[in-house]
Amino acid sequence: MDGTSSSLPSEVDVVPQTPQLIALYTVIRDRETSRADFVFHADRIIRLLLEHALNYVPLVPRRVTTPVGAVYDGLAYGEKICGVSVVRAGEAFEHGLRQIARSVRIGKILMQRDERTAEPRMYWAKLPNDIASRWVLLMDPMVATGRSVSMAVAALLRAGVPQTRVLVVSMFACREGVEALLRAYPHVRLVTGAVDAGLTPDKYITPGVGDFGDLYFGTM
Ligand code: URA
Repeated sequence: MDGTSSSLPSEVDVVPQTPQLIALYTVIRDRETSRADFVFHADRIIRLLLEHALNYVPLVPRRVTTPVGAVYDGLAYGEKICGVSVVRAGEAFEHGLRQIARSVRIGKILMQRDERTAEPRMYWAKLPNDIASRWVLLMDPMVATGRSVSMAVAALLRAGVPQTRVLVVSMFACREGVEALLRAYPHVRLVTGAVDAGLTPDKYITPGVGDFGDLYFGTM
């Protein structure tokens, strides 16, 4: 199972595996890729994922008149959104989100995974105070064991966000993480670009990309 949606729950939306997307993933998966190339190509993927996730936010009919005087019946955003990044790796999504939603509010959840046990610990959360009335793009690049993303979803629910308005956006997932997340929160939606084969003994996604935060922020 590599980047495909075969037999995944319907709450998991794997973005279309176009040749373009696979080429972008090939660059970032390559251990020989420079940091500049990693960031550039990861940013392109992030933008695609965020654009795709926005399709779940309901739209309302909107009629406009075009410059030639014709009427066009289109659509417009009808509901408020915000982003929440799981610090640190999720912060990589913030620039991409601002590019497609200019003055978007962005909350943060600070979580760290114990590198020995792979268990996450939540330290801090700062969320928009009206988050309960917004659709939330929860940005976490790696859904590995699913424990940290589940902990982040729990923080959103405590703040009053219904599960059905949580859109988890990740670059990589694996079945174990997807199942853990949806067992705990069956009504959230996961938008991802790749569902990889599994986890290494030290709980990295494989084939995966390694430590996303280290690669993106240059802290290897
Ligand atoms: N976090 C990462 O950065 N990479 C993984 O493969 C899993 C969790």
